[in-house]
Amino acid sequence: MRELHDLVVGLAVEAADLARTRREAGVDIAASKTSIVDIVTEADREVERLVVDRILAARPDDGVLGEEGTSVAGTSGLTWVIDPIDGTVNYLYDIPAYAVSIALVEGDPDPATWRGLSGAVVNGATGERFEALRGHGARLDGREIRVADAVDPAVALVGTGFGYDAARRSRQGAVLQGLIGEVRDVRRGGSAALDLCFVAAGRLNAYYETGLNPWDMAAGALVVEEAGGAVRGWRGEPAGTGFLLAAAPALADDLAAILEPLRANEV
Ligand code: IPD
Repeated sequence: MRELHDLVVGLAVEAADLARTRREAGVDIAASKTSIVDIVTEADREVERLVVDRILAARPDDGVLGEEGTSVAGTSGLTWVIDPIDGTVNYLYDIPAYAVSIALVEGDPDPATWRGLSGAVVNGATGERFEALRGHGARLDGREIRVADAVDPAVALVGTGFGYDAARRSRQGAVLQGLIGEVRDVRRGGSAALDLCFVAAGRLNAYYETGLNPWDMAAGALVVEEAGGAVRGWRGEPAGTGFLLAAAPALADDLAAILEPLRANEV
């Protein structure tokens, strides 16, 4: 696994360099996806192509799932899950919080059932490199990281995010309205992968979001778990595209107890 992990990290670093180079040259929107605000840039596509080409050359039997349309069913039981630029809107506006996220998972490409084996999230703007190999801890630029100790929700700094669909976003806002008086404060960083890594590094006490895509969470969730955190869904179910909550285990329980009744606002 160590060799595969080196490949995961090496690819994420190379891809993040390409994303930064393209950002420096200027960014154009290539197309809209699910809504007018859900955009893809040429750089998203180019970065995904680079990563997929490298994977298929090195690991022809593995599956590949990428945000910008790659879907290759492998035969090895391993799947690479890629977000070429997580934080695409930050990227468009040159806000230095966008990242390449690459994970290697075992099992079907479904976050509720897969087992993350290796993951890397590299911030293209700052070069910060978060990585985790199952059973071997989580690291930021080579130094081991741990989630912050559990705190009372009243002093917890909580990250979250919103989907691109206007109706969903309004429902997410209603949940947030119920939460914000119960916690220290809230951050919306704009990259789920980095938000998860920030939990792993103790920069956020917790992060939650409904409606994430598999590629937003694959690498970051493993980084949190390997940093000693819990990553869960509603009512102790596994985290998935429905809901994901990440924090130190005791804080995750306390925040779930606050968020679950609010969920009635968000179906
Ligand atoms: C988005 C970001 C954002 C999260 C959205 C994601 P993208 O991914 O991770 O923080 O709130 O749910 O879709 O579109 O930038 O790759």
